[in-house]
Amino acid sequence: MTEQQFPKNFLWGGATAANQLEGAYQEDGKGLSLPDVLPGGKERMNIIASPDFDFKIHDDKYVYPNHIGIDHYHHFKEDIALFAEMGFKCYRFSIAWSRIFPKGDEKEPNEAGLKFYDEVIDECVKHNIEPVITISHYELPLYLITEYGSWTNKKLIGFYENFARTVLTRYHDRVKYWMTFNEINSAAHFPIMSQGLAPSNGANDKKNIFQSWHNQFVASSKAVKIAHELDPELQIGCMILYATTYSYDSHPENQLATLKANQESNFFCADVQVRGHYPAYTKNLLAKYDLKVSDFDYTKEELELLAKHPVDYIGFSYYMSTVQDVVNERQTSAQGNFIGGVSNPFLKSSEWGWQIDPTGLRIALDQLSDRYEKPLFIVENGLGAIDQPDENHYVKDDYRIDYLREHIKAVGEAIDDGADVMGYTPWGCIDLVSASTGEMSKRYGFIYVDEDDEGKGTFNRYKKQSFDWYKKVIATNGADL
Ligand code: BG6
Repeated sequence: MTEQQFPKNFLWGGATAANQLEGAYQEDGKGLSLPDVLPGGKERMNIIASPDFDFKIHDDKYVYPNHIGIDHYHHFKEDIALFAEMGFKCYRFSIAWSRIFPKGDEKEPNEAGLKFYDEVIDECVKHNIEPVITISHYELPLYLITEYGSWTNKKLIGFYENFARTVLTRYHDRVKYWMTFNEINSAAHFPIMSQGLAPSNGANDKKNIFQSWHNQFVASSKAVKIAHELDPELQIGCMILYATTYSYDSHPENQLATLKANQESNFFCADVQVRGHYPAYTKNLLAKYDLKVSDFDYTKEELELLAKHPVDYIGFSYYMSTVQDVVNERQTSAQGNFIGGVSNPFLKSSEWGWQIDPTGLRIALDQLSDRYEKPLFIVENGLGAIDQPDENHYVKDDYRIDYLREHIKAVGEAIDDGADVMGYTPWGCIDLVSASTGEMSKRYGFIYVDEDDEGKGTFNRYKKQSFDWYKKVIATNGADL
């Protein structure tokens, strides 16, 4: 690998989300948000999937790790200083909507919430770290779900617009890079996180998912419009979950199924947000669920808005690839947090069953680049693993280094292929609460946080082996892996 592979201004950094690390879930006026009612533990997804899931806190039955996070709310200066020590050029984080608008439908924002992010941003700027903000990362104010029915309700477009306008106006002088919704397409498989829909409030009806997407697309375009009116130089992207999808074999039916799975799971949302219109395959995709375009609530003005305000770049997460097989009966299956599929005999899996596939990242970058001809930003990638600190709290995480090294190599190769890649922010650069399982023991970080699945520990931060390794990667602009 040569140094020239990575552009001079490549944005090396790390990524987090407010609900998974801040804690302080009721401090300084913050309202409850969706993750505040999600119990911790491997059963999290099953509990959400139950028809009895009621979006309430049951302290007697469950623990709620998102309430404490890693207490970043009170440690952010220390944490950002550690990111700076690694040489981060950027730091991707999100704004907890319910810190700014506690219920979500207020007209005026909560000043204490805005002040917190002023301080976080100032801290980044002080260390020459470019903030990269996800406006909404799986943390919808709870009230918007319980009182308004979540994103199926078009009123949410206005509430999101107010939220986006407030934060863009307040921070645009210091923050150039933005994303509108985290993993907007994850609703294809599990609409709870991005759309606030569980089976108990309508997730089993696909019409709700598509209507919510439409409303989110409109909301996203409004945010893009606001951002560019404030400053045409602002870069505002979409953010999708991308899992490179292979056909199990050369059977034409499997090839066709792969193409369709790609359209539905990987491309649909980005097609709308990047190209500014619904793709031609929309009609057939809806027909798969016995739906038609006329079933939906949309206006000509909304479609015009989508066309006028597409996103500037494509942010995406990449952890694993999947396999399509509609022809053969397969016994083995692979897991992901929100996706799964047939297991791939050529790949190894993480402890949580995610299939590790660095070449899949090169393919993802090439596919996205060929399709959209827009800048790409890998805003999540990484290995969730159980770390074993020694008596000095040191974690020798060579397995994580191996994972990241191979993926970074693949990024360099995709850049050689011609992909325009803006940056790379590995997920959970500091250990945080897992989105799918609410565990602390599933760790991604370069920095170990002394805290267990019950939220107990000293909350001290310790550098892992990967900390110095990533520091060297950044210092050499990806030349020394
Ligand atoms: C992505 C999300 O799906 O994957 C993150 O954007 C999440 O919020 C990450 O944490 C890793 O998934 P998990 O379930 O291991 O935390």
